[in-house]
Amino acid sequence: MVEEEWGEGLIRSWNQAGWYVAPARIGAKLCPLLGAKPHEVTITESISINLFKLLVTAARLRPSRKTIIAEHGNFPSDNHIVESVARLLGLKARFVPAGEIAAAIDVDTGVATLSHVNYRTAEVQDMTAVTAAAHAKGALIVWDLAHSTGAVDLRLDEARADFAVGCGYKFLNGGPGAPSHVFVAERHLDFIDQPLTGWFGHAEPFRFDDGYRRAEGIRHMLCSTPQMLSMAAFEKALDAFAGVSMTEVERKGRALGELMIELYDERLAALGCGLATLREGVRRGNHVSFTHRSGYAVMQALIQRGVIGDFRAPDVMRFGFGPLYVRFVDIYDAVSAINDIIESGAYKDEAVGERQAVT
Ligand SMILES: Cc1ncc(COP(=O)(O)O)c(C=O)c1O
Repeated sequence: MVEEEWGEGLIRSWNQAGWYVAPARIGAKLCPLLGAKPHEVTITESISINLFKLLVTAARLRPSRKTIIAEHGNFPSDNHIVESVARLLGLKARFVPAGEIAAAIDVDTGVATLSHVNYRTAEVQDMTAVTAAAHAKGALIVWDLAHSTGAVDLRLDEARADFAVGCGYKFLNGGPGAPSHVFVAERHLDFIDQPLTGWFGHAEPFRFDDGYRRAEGIRHMLCSTPQMLSMAAFEKALDAFAGVSMTEVERKGRALGELMIELYDERLAALGCGLATLREGVRRGNHVSFTHRSGYAVMQALIQRGVIGDFRAPDVMRFGFGPLYVRFVDIYDAVSAINDIIESGAYKDEAVGERQAVT
């Protein structure tokens, strides 16, 4: 990519190396993981940007309705975007706990948005049931699949999902800032009118017309020139999933989580750790989180030992499992290390005063 397609090919590679069609090509590769059709998925920009596009798109499809319902406690970026979209369109944003969204949707709700798997608790929402509840009231749903794609067995079409965004840099291993993915159900494709009308979503960008004419289908969801180096890394990472059954991936991830919770009960519960994820396997996505009052310091000490998880303020230590390569022995070793660090008090040696910018 760097030496030949970029170094030698330069702009010729937009045609010759298939850069121009990369968003659609990679989207088609991803669709088996989403349970979607190839023409319903494209790869572009970030989750937050795509969420913005989809929320406005959905609200424009329900112009007489004045409320957006979102999840209290969702990943903050999502709710920041919801508030901005509401302000921009003169709508009311209403936040309720995820489990209450289906019941909260009423005839004034144009669009609801929530995470399929919660970023802290790993709680999985019943996509089919929530979608059906929204549709019964005439509302549309935008799903955030950040903690779902590549981790659980998604069936977007079967669930009658309307819209979704997902992440390239978590379970899909696309690298830092890897492009995200956008899903629009086939039945909406002819009617979408997304707000970021950049030239890559134009029907014929290289005619350089003054006016915007939207591209047919999912390509209208594009805005800017694709970041090709990130796209190339993401495509290769995705190839690792080729031919892999997501049912098996989900099963392995769940078994890894079960083991971690079992070991938590045996070794960590008595040490001041709490379990922040659900126990019930079928309602839990692919990460396990523990709370500890010195969670930041414990995580820093773990990282020193090569066990690398996330810290989510105020006190959550989160461990995500890539089921394709994380082994059961890795879980055992991670819990042993947490046990050791807390029991010995080694975490107290960590310089907790100065938190790094990224935790
Ligand atoms: C659930 C969820 N939504 C949105 C985001 C934000 O993603 P992006 O940085 O691609 O906008 C994240 C990032 O971790 C996330 O976990």
